[in-house]
Amino acid sequence: MNMSGILSSKVVLIGTGAVGSSYAYSLINQGLSDDIILVDINKKKAQGDVMDLDHGIVYAPSPMTIRYGTFKDCKDAAIVVICAGSAQNPGETRLELVQKNVNIFKSIVDEIMKSGFDGIFIVATNPVDILAYATWKFSGLSKERVIGSGTVLDTARFRSLLGREFGIAPISVHGYIIGEHGDSQLPVWSSANISGTQITTKISHERKEVITQQVKDAAYQIIEMKGATYYGIAMALARITKAILRNEQVVLPVGTLLEGEYGVNDVYIGVPAVVDRKGVRNVIELSLDEREQEKFAISVQLLQDFQQKIG
Ligand code: LAC
Repeated sequence: MNMSGILSSKVVLIGTGAVGSSYAYSLINQGLSDDIILVDINKKKAQGDVMDLDHGIVYAPSPMTIRYGTFKDCKDAAIVVICAGSAQNPGETRLELVQKNVNIFKSIVDEIMKSGFDGIFIVATNPVDILAYATWKFSGLSKERVIGSGTVLDTARFRSLLGREFGIAPISVHGYIIGEHGDSQLPVWSSANISGTQITTKISHERKEVITQQVKDAAYQIIEMKGATYYGIAMALARITKAILRNEQVVLPVGTLLEGEYGVNDVYIGVPAVVDRKGVRNVIELSLDEREQEKFAISVQLLQDFQQKIG
């Protein structure tokens, strides 16, 4: 809330690499924020992005400003999105980035909190579930206000593939990928549906396996082809941003801290949760069949093993 009592839509983006700059481009094209600040260690590149994006604002759906800033600009931001850090090399898993990026995050989050930031974090850098947990720990903010991109992008990939499988627009296909944003993720086939009609009985086991693997492999394939992924994740981040700034109370499979839900405690992981102006309101507990419970437990354990090493 700013002095005039109007809810701020100020977004500060930390890291203007391919993901960050694509996210800023999405914010502008969707008219989601009226005040966008870009922060990056490479000042020249960030200032170039500001200038380039600023020229397009005349064609944006609503007026807004975009400028280069510093951590101090986080003070009155509604949302700080962190895209900074090292990205996967071809064939590298997201988890292999962990130590490098946890160290980067410690310094970034400390600087942001020094500004007096009292808004909501959205974390995108991989391994995103570990770094969301690290941001929660380092910031001292309540879990509601530290959101990982979770499996929002994986779920979009899942729905896109199912839409193609059934010849139906992905927006009309409902289903979630939950767990790690990574190789231990799992599709919840048991509740996937089209207008309430279960999918699981309408698709063979073989096709389920193929689609499950296609979702898992998507990022590796894209990285092989073009060196990095950025448009899909940028749209996923914009979706989460919109849910917050528009106080949507919408269910999205974001990365959030479990405190007893699914019988699990103290792990940041991708699960469907209600997102609104205050951040993550509550977790939705899908009913998982036995196989899904086993796979979810493996993903939980993998993430907890990494997260518990973070001081
Ligand atoms: C991907 C990156 C964002 O899945 O991890 O495309």
